[in-house]
Amino acid sequence: MTQITLSPSGLTVPLSSEEVYFNYCWLRDACPSCIDSQTRERIFDVASLPDLPQARAARLEGDALVIEWQAESQISQIPLSLLETFAGRGRTEDPADISPKLWYADQEPHFTRVPQQAVLSDPDARAQLTRALIEDGIAIVTDMAANDDSLPSLVDAIGPITPSAEGLFFDVRVEIEPTNLAFTAGPLEMHTDLPGEEAAPGVQFLHCMENTVDGGLSLFLDGAAVAEALREEDPEAFRLLADNKIPFFYRHDNWDYRAHQRVIETDPDGRVTGVTISQHLQDVMDLPQDLLDSYYPAFIKFLKMMQEERFLVRFRSEAGNCVIFDNHRIVHGREGYVADSGKRHLRGCYTDRGALRSTYRVLAKQGHLGCDVEEATRQSA
Ligand SMILES: [Fe+2]
Repeated sequence: MTQITLSPSGLTVPLSSEEVYFNYCWLRDACPSCIDSQTRERIFDVASLPDLPQARAARLEGDALVIEWQAESQISQIPLSLLETFAGRGRTEDPADISPKLWYADQEPHFTRVPQQAVLSDPDARAQLTRALIEDGIAIVTDMAANDDSLPSLVDAIGPITPSAEGLFFDVRVEIEPTNLAFTAGPLEMHTDLPGEEAAPGVQFLHCMENTVDGGLSLFLDGAAVAEALREEDPEAFRLLADNKIPFFYRHDNWDYRAHQRVIETDPDGRVTGVTISQHLQDVMDLPQDLLDSYYPAFIKFLKMMQEERFLVRFRSEAGNCVIFDNHRIVHGREGYVADSGKRHLRGCYTDRGALRSTYRVLAKQGHLGCDVEEATRQSA
């Protein structure tokens, strides 16, 4: 059998598929004794050692790698399952690391729909909802109670409310002195909310309290699907939008938010994690003028793609429904409506993506996956 090989900075251990190298500092930090069983926080500080840790001896024992250290009496027992995980995916297992399922114009009948009462009382329904929000970026909660506590109690089931300049909640209806185009009866171009905030809101709730107007259909598209289509059709345009930040603002009498965002957000693996678009909150471009010669055509191409029917879902927001969507991925808008044809009132708020994923992880750990086990395994990134 292949042996463990010690070297000055780390060791090589035979795992199921191959021999894999691990750094000593990483191994010392990965020792389960570093985590306090009660607080579940790290209680070991690798910087507290006088020198970088170095193994004196190491052996495989049962399902652990046992390491004796040169300068410490501490013996570490690292589970082989942890080493296998890092050898395979390079990071900790994460039930919320679910590959997004891109969607297109025909998706609306397939949006996950869960009644509010089930979300509040049934962990399986809560898992189904939170999983859909991670996977599809959008879901609809139906049968919302028609009172002011309805939306806060729904948000609470997913995460704490994230305030914005408007406060904890905002009401989308016609206002006399609107602070935002949303508060008029005009059409609202496809956008993500509040990109002028340093960390734009993560997950948006829009509870339709009343809708009797003519027109005003809600528009949604999967920004990640459009971004992937752009990557396919014009890789250079994709690169320009993913590599450069552009300025956004949100200004009124009492606030002046400004932030720079990438129009296409990617993770370190290059996967599209979101988009940021808002014509009405976009500031004057401040990229170098010669870069704008290529940036603008790419940007305009992306904006035009967002108007293509192949991506657009349009439906009427019905009173008693709450649409929930990932504000960094799902781009939304609204057709104009006739202001005096009836009443249209949506109440909105936000929570963040981290809270959504945290809620799903806790549910998944309790066995509520929100789908069958085979699908969870298949979809796991
Ligand atoms: Fe919006």
